Amino acid sequence: MPGPTQVEAIPRGLPGFVSLVGAGPGCPDLITVRGLRALERAEVILYDALLDPSFQDLFPASALVIAVGKRCGQASVLQSEIHQLLLLHARAGRRVVRLKGGDPLVFGRGGEEALALEAAGLPFEVVPGVSALLAGAAGAGFPLTHRAVSRRITVLEGHHLPETSAAWRDLAASGGTLAVYMGTRTLQALAGKLLEHGAAPNLPVALVEKAQCPGQTSTFSTLAHAAAGALQPATDGPGLVFIGESLHHRFHPTLESTHEPVAAVSGSAREAGAGGGRRQRRAG
Ligand SMILES: C[S@@+](CC[C@H](N)C(=O)[O-])C[C@H]1O[C@@H](n2cnc3c(N)ncnc32)[C@H](O)[C@@H]1O
Repeated sequence: MPGPTQVEAIPRGLPGFVSLVGAGPGCPDLITVRGLRALERAEVILYDALLDPSFQDLFPASALVIAVGKRCGQASVLQSEIHQLLLLHARAGRRVVRLKGGDPLVFGRGGEEALALEAAGLPFEVVPGVSALLAGAAGAGFPLTHRAVSRRITVLEGHHLPETSAAWRDLAASGGTLAVYMGTRTLQALAGKLLEHGAAPNLPVALVEKAQCPGQTSTFSTLAHAAAGALQPATDGPGLVFIGESLHHRFHPTLESTHEPVAAVSGSAREAGAGGGRRQRRAG
């Protein structure tokens, strides 16, 4: 059995192997051991723009590295081109890692890539990653589920909010914890709609940015304040919105840590601007 750092060569003439690897929330120490091992063996790496540049320290010097990520709608490689690259290199017998932020199967188009590989008859695996949902709750310090408080997690995409009143009523009444990916720009509209359809104005809301990465911020407020536009992003990094009673059960992880990228705390929790949000920031 080769060790983790030894390359197990795929005999030429055979198809290669593609690993769709979840990189975690953006900093290298939250990738899984399995993902790291796939990277160490990779001959070709296709990686996303949201990942910290320090990920590149994990790439083998011999690997062909291709940046294919998209960020905030900026021009980038088309999804169909990513599929073509995956197929091309796998058919050429190479070990390919498609490194994606968070988990490949959560708003990551990993499903489309897996289906394209399957349709082409190429061998592949999906290595799960720490999704922003999990990183955000752990980083900001609240449970996603909590006995007798939250028994359900509802995950939404902020770019595509419900369209009917019935759907909004269901959402407002769903209880549990709502987590909204890509929702910082639509937070005010989302909060307004939830209020309009019966959610409590004092329901806690948190906006967690750069979760578990250098410069993480978490801002706590209420649905009413968010609906008034008082809860705004504090950084230019990715942010996740959380809404629900479980946010009342906050804990405060010890910030002195062995995690390299989240090295220090600058200031303690403080009132954040208008609207009474409480913001806590970690500096990298
Ligand atoms: C295209 S989705 C990718 C989600 C990813 N596949 C995952 O499982 O986390 C990008 C969105 O994830 C969220 N996100 C990703 N990384 C984050 C982080 N470190 N902190 C907060 N939110 C993050 C943001 O809502 C961002 O707009």
